[in-house]
Amino acid sequence: MSNDTTIRWGIVGAGRIARRFAQGLAHVPGAVLSGVWSRRPEPARALAAAFGARAFDSFDALMGGIDALYIATMQDSHPQYALAAFSAGKPVLCEKPAAVNARTLQKMIDTARASKLLFMEAMKPPFYPLYGQLRAHLAADPIGAIGLVRAGCSMANVPLDHPSYSMDSGGGALLDIGVYEAFLAVDWLGEALDVQTIGRLGPTGVDTFASLNVRHERGVAQLFCGMDLQGRGDALIGGTLGTATIHENWWNPARATVRYLDGRTVELDAPFEGGGLNYETAHFCELLRAGAIESPVMSHATSMRMIAIIDAARRDLGLRFPFESE
Ligand SMILES: NC(=O)c1ccc[n+]([C@@H]2O[C@H](COP(=O)([O-])OP(=O)(O)OC[C@H]3O[C@@H](n4cnc5c(N)ncnc54)[C@H](OP(=O)(O)O)[C@@H]3O)[C@@H](O)[C@H]2O)c1
Repeated sequence: MSNDTTIRWGIVGAGRIARRFAQGLAHVPGAVLSGVWSRRPEPARALAAAFGARAFDSFDALMGGIDALYIATMQDSHPQYALAAFSAGKPVLCEKPAAVNARTLQKMIDTARASKLLFMEAMKPPFYPLYGQLRAHLAADPIGAIGLVRAGCSMANVPLDHPSYSMDSGGGALLDIGVYEAFLAVDWLGEALDVQTIGRLGPTGVDTFASLNVRHERGVAQLFCGMDLQGRGDALIGGTLGTATIHENWWNPARATVRYLDGRTVELDAPFEGGGLNYETAHFCELLRAGAIESPVMSHATSMRMIAIIDAARRDLGLRFPFESE
């Protein structure tokens, strides 16, 4: 694929995030929305029509008309569509969580690698301008050895009929929100060595609140996620010489404050455009043109480390989905 190839995207699923992805594509150089397929034809037709794309009659037909697939269904079906796309020779950008457990994710990664196809979990925060600016700032003017990540997000207004409340879809706050926090902890502190979780399961059986203390290779993370009460959405990275606060909502990062023990304060401000999903999409397109099969920013190992934390937390809470085999 040459540097000026226009990448034709297909989307499976036609819900909330699919629409945001389609909106974001307008901000991605050399990318167009080519086709959409979902299990119900009407939402797929409406989404395709809104963005000048074609609604396909089947997943297999969609595979025939695209260069890359964005998986925007709920997480119970991510593996099924990723594996089918790999069989059809298509690279995959897969919404988070790429799979509900490490065993399934490993199978997806192994298949992508064996097929020599690009596969990336759509974990958006590291691709925002602010996150890159923060990384560069902390490299140039460090806050010492980083040993603490504190991140939380809990929203009290998730309606009971939202898919995040569905056991059959692999819902729950851990997989919906906690996975972002697991990313932040892994990104700054390395692999998790020990996870201790306190939380509760709600009326539908999925977790509605969880508080995690995680011991990592290089420090400790304190994380919380929830769907039945209101909590702040900022994140703190702590080092021996200072702190960096990514202001809410930290998973759509636009502002950060770095405070040093010597009294200095540095404000970082980097507004984002296009809704934010466009940055990870642009990165994926660049990788695809370069012939890469893995992102150096959102690597397979990072995805595995993230889901290992969620697996451990779910074990602590006794949460198992009906479609998970032994
Ligand atoms: N990166 C982010 O910022 C972000 C934000 C929100 C969500 N997400 C992730 O995006 C995914 C989707 O979330 P959402 O809020 O967009 O959910 P949603 O609004 O319920 O949309 C899901 C779409 O996928 C379709 N679908 C579900 N299961 C399917 C299957 N087995 N086969 C074919 N189509 C299927 C649904 O069809 P029906 O209409 O028939 O149900 C619907 O069109 C989740 O994994 C979530 O974690 C990411």
